[in-house]
Amino acid sequence: MSVPDDSHLAALWDSVADQWLDPPGRLRPSKQYVAIPLFRSLWGDIAGKRVLDAGCGGGWLTRVAMEDGADVDAVDFSPTLITRARQLDGGTQARYHVANLCDLSRFRDAHFDLVISHCCLQDVSNYRLALQEIARVVRTEGCMILSVVHPWTWQFDAHWGPPAPGEPFLGYIEDPQYLIERFSGRNMFHRPLSAYCAAVTSAGFSLLGLYEPRPGDDLEPVLGGEPQWERWRRVPDFLYIHAIRR
Ligand SMILES: C[S@@+](CC[C@H](N)C(=O)[O-])C[C@H]1O[C@@H](n2cnc3c(N)ncnc32)[C@H](O)[C@@H]1O
Repeated sequence: MSVPDDSHLAALWDSVADQWLDPPGRLRPSKQYVAIPLFRSLWGDIAGKRVLDAGCGGGWLTRVAMEDGADVDAVDFSPTLITRARQLDGGTQARYHVANLCDLSRFRDAHFDLVISHCCLQDVSNYRLALQEIARVVRTEGCMILSVVHPWTWQFDAHWGPPAPGEPFLGYIEDPQYLIERFSGRNMFHRPLSAYCAAVTSAGFSLLGLYEPRPGDDLEPVLGGEPQWERWRRVPDFLYIHAIRR
């Protein structure tokens, strides 16, 4: 498969880069209280491990992995987000690269012990090719932990039923890959859960687990006052896939 020309998608991400970033000095609660604990519980001791952050955006997850002692390369196809990631980095030794996940040729086969990725694959036009490239650069028995916008629960925000004139029908079992949303120019592709799992396993991984994390009761004192608390408690925004390279 040839590498897609995603320059228009990268340009869209450049144009919304600063809207995407977390407020200065404060990660969004879904990252702080849900994503970070789950990533850490799945990756365990990563001190000294070679880690790839795939679709790093502003690099927040790269910085968490660096804090845990990993040796991190981070890739994103948006030059503006990579610039922001470098600016926000705070002097770690992480390496940031502008590259398409469908072409990781700068890395040799089996280079990484672990690939991490948060909220990215639903935005990748050729996610199967990206997963094949990721599989190539992970060593045998290395792992991948990735989250995607949950392919079912995002639809709580979408409209079911007959589409408005000119709008696509938003269903779950539809063409497994189509444009579902434009958010400030951002594209996102809907793929059913079965399509993600099939792409992960065909790329050469075995599934270790699927997770739909939400904040626990213990976080009510911290987050209970937030307007979205009830939703966060009941609806997982992200689906996590944990897999091992075979
Ligand atoms: C929703 S953002 C998430 C960014 C970051 N992981 C985070 O959690 O904040 C999706 C990211 O994927 C990147 N991206 C989308 N398609 C890509 C591709 N084919 N290759 C590399 N990066 C891509 C975008 O530039 C964007 O930074």
